Amino acid sequence: MSLVAYSTFLLLLKFITCLELKSTVCAGKNATSTRIREFCEEQGGSIIHRCCLGPDDATFIAVDLTESNLTAVPDFTDYANFNVSVIDLRLNPQLEPTPDNDFLGLTNLNELILPPQFDCPGHHHVWELIANTTDPLGINCTHQVDFCANSTDVCAEQASYCSINGPNHFLCLCKEEYHGYKCLRKGTFPSGVFYGTTVAVTVVASIFLYWTQRRHVKS
Ligand SMILES: *[C@@H]1O[C@H](CO)[C@@H](O)[C@H](O)[C@H]1NC(C)=O
Ligand SMILES: *[C@@H]1O[C@H](CO)[C@@H](O)[C@H](O)[C@H]1NC(C)=O
Ligand SMILES: *[C@@H]1O[C@H](CO)[C@@H](O)[C@H](O)[C@H]1NC(C)=O
Ligand SMILES: *[C@@H]1O[C@H](CO)[C@@H](O)[C@H](O)[C@H]1NC(C)=O
Ligand SMILES: *[C@@H]1O[C@H](CO)[C@@H](O)[C@H](O)[C@H]1NC(C)=O
Ligand SMILES: *[C@@H]1O[C@H](CO)[C@@H](O)[C@H](O)[C@H]1NC(C)=O
Repeated sequence: MSLVAYSTFLLLLKFITCLELKSTVCAGKNATSTRIREFCEEQGGSIIHRCCLGPDDATFIAVDLTESNLTAVPDFTDYANFNVSVIDLRLNPQLEPTPDNDFLGLTNLNELILPPQFDCPGHHHVWELIANTTDPLGINCTHQVDFCANSTDVCAEQASYCSINGPNHFLCLCKEEYHGYKCLRKGTFPSGVFYGTTVAVTVVASIFLYWTQRRHVKS
């Protein structure tokens, strides 16, 4: 019985995922990029339109955006369930770079396949290997490196450190014990107060609901 309920729940989840797809980068034809299909199979994922859904059935791990008539790279920060390793953007002759926004947040991107007119963002500063592809024509940028390791002075404030935030993007984060503007405040984030308040509110709300529901039962 519970198995039936569980299966129904999973089906429903898949259905909702599919509905959401209509408005995401995954919408459109089924993936045709041989590299995306090959990678997806290797990882034990499944192709859902343009995307590869990972073996956990919850995160997308690769996207085939070939032949999409794109002029700019889609903003992946709009989607929470993307942890992509491979993106194929070939056959988009009008695609142009927007260096401040492209591939923001994609810290696990490890293979970026671009049309020939688009350079690997950050070149060899960011990618270990850069090669040409022939069929279709393009550029293969692979193995994103942690360029923060070699850029000691990009985060000027003493109490901050550099952390990569996708190819050629970085964040200056506060070192442990520091927080606030320019990481000038020392001490840990007052999480005790925060969680304490949350727990207190939950308890009060639960008691309230318990009593109101009970009265309902009696009458
Ligand atoms: C896309 O693939 C699914 C199975 O993965 C199949 O059911 C569907 O018919 C395919 N759609 C097209 C347009 O080929
Ligand atoms: C891209 O543009 C071409 C020609 O303008 C059109 O035939 C094709 O359907 C478009 N493809 C998509 C995915 O919009
Ligand atoms: C994202 O994918 C990488 C492997 O490509 C994995 O190591 C990492 O744990 C994943 N992160 C999340 C939040 O799932
Ligand atoms: C890729 O091809 C371009 C010209 O099409 C050439 O200038 C470049 O050197 C090639 N890059 C590699 C890594 O072979
Ligand atoms: C890109 O390079 C990687 C590493 O050399 C390789 O595994 C992958 O197949 C290449 N992708 C394409 C589309 O050529
Ligand atoms: C670090 O930067 C130096 C100088 O720019 C360069 O010679 C070296 O190869 C870089 N190392 C890495 C791991 O990127």
